[in-house]
Amino acid sequence: MKRLNALLLLLSLTVVATAQATPASDALLAQYKAAGVSKTDAAKAKSDWSKEVKGDDGEMMSCSSCHGTDLSKSGKHHKTHKVIEAMSTKVNAERFTDEKKIEKWFKRNCKDVWSRECTAQEKADFLTFLLAQ
Ligand code: HEC
Repeated sequence: MKRLNALLLLLSLTVVATAQATPASDALLAQYKAAGVSKTDAAKAKSDWSKEVKGDDGEMMSCSSCHGTDLSKSGKHHKTHKVIEAMSTKVNAERFTDEKKIEKWFKRNCKDVWSRECTAQEKADFLTFLLAQ
């Protein structure tokens, strides 16, 4: 079991290292692991990102309603039309640098779109997907 854990840790570190990880994203991914997440699925997160569901206010929406699907470009709030800076860490060095901010927006955005909070697994998947953009 110890060896398996070490292997999983090594694997995840390798994956994170090839993406644009930040100390905050590393810390959060470690927390999600501690909460039972053993592997992440960026492909699932990619499809979840633009999956349209009826949001809290009855409108069809997805993560991409505000953030777009090309994450190297800025998005726009679907209602207020306020610009939301690009999610890709390659073009936006401010991204995923603050654990509290990431958790705050996961909470808010998941509730907005899915009418519930995201699970640790979903957040780990989203974060892995986002860091690879
Ligand atoms: C109603 C518009 C809207 C929707 C829909 C939305 N977001 Fe966001 N999101 C924002 C805004 C506004 C911010 C905060 C401003 C910023 O970081 O540029 C943000 C920030 C974030 C952050 C924090 C990024 C960081 O740098 O810390 C994450 C993570 C995030 N969103 C993920 C998601 C996910 C996952 C979904 C789909 C479940 C989603 N968002 C849907 C508007 C939205």
